[in-house]
Amino acid sequence: MRFTLNGKPVELKVAPMRRLLDVLREDCGLTGTKEGCGEGECGACTVLLDGAPVNSCLVPVAQAEGTKVTTIEGLRGHTKLQQAFVTEGGAQCGICTPGFLLAASTLPRAASLEAVKQGLAGNLCRCTGYAGIYRSVAVARGGARAAPKPKPAARAKATPRAKTKPKARSAAARRSR
Ligand code: FES
Ligand code: FES
Repeated sequence: MRFTLNGKPVELKVAPMRRLLDVLREDCGLTGTKEGCGEGECGACTVLLDGAPVNSCLVPVAQAEGTKVTTIEGLRGHTKLQQAFVTEGGAQCGICTPGFLLAASTLPRAASLEAVKQGLAGNLCRCTGYAGIYRSVAVARGGARAAPKPKPAARAKATPRAKTKPKARSAAARRSR
């Protein structure tokens, strides 16, 4: 199996139907890609395949043949987006964060808040209430904050999950990724 991983060519002897997620973590040692649900629902395992976000738990490694694969390690920790997730409360436990960062990195710069929510709808977070994530994306783009940063005392009340949690990707949308 040959593909380009974070800008470097790799050649692996692996069974073609193994999950790309497992090959990245176990054979390539890139453990930044996380497993949440393992069935295409949460987006924690998101990587980019030729620049498009995919759920790597659903992708056989055979589909990566000849492609460019980008994992969170490929962002190298220095992008504005990553900095904004740190400063704006876009990450808490961090399990969902690599997937959010990679999905957000593909959004057009001029995307509206609605388009950002749409683009990130396949990534689920149990911790942040989403406001911090949307704010991080807005700040990374140098635009206005999508939601005001809560004061520490108000934060607990300001992040009711039921009010801000977007719908998961539809089954059709997941199949198309
Ligand atoms: S682990 Fe792949 S979508 Fe949840
Ligand atoms: S920061 Fe914990 S699941 Fe998103």
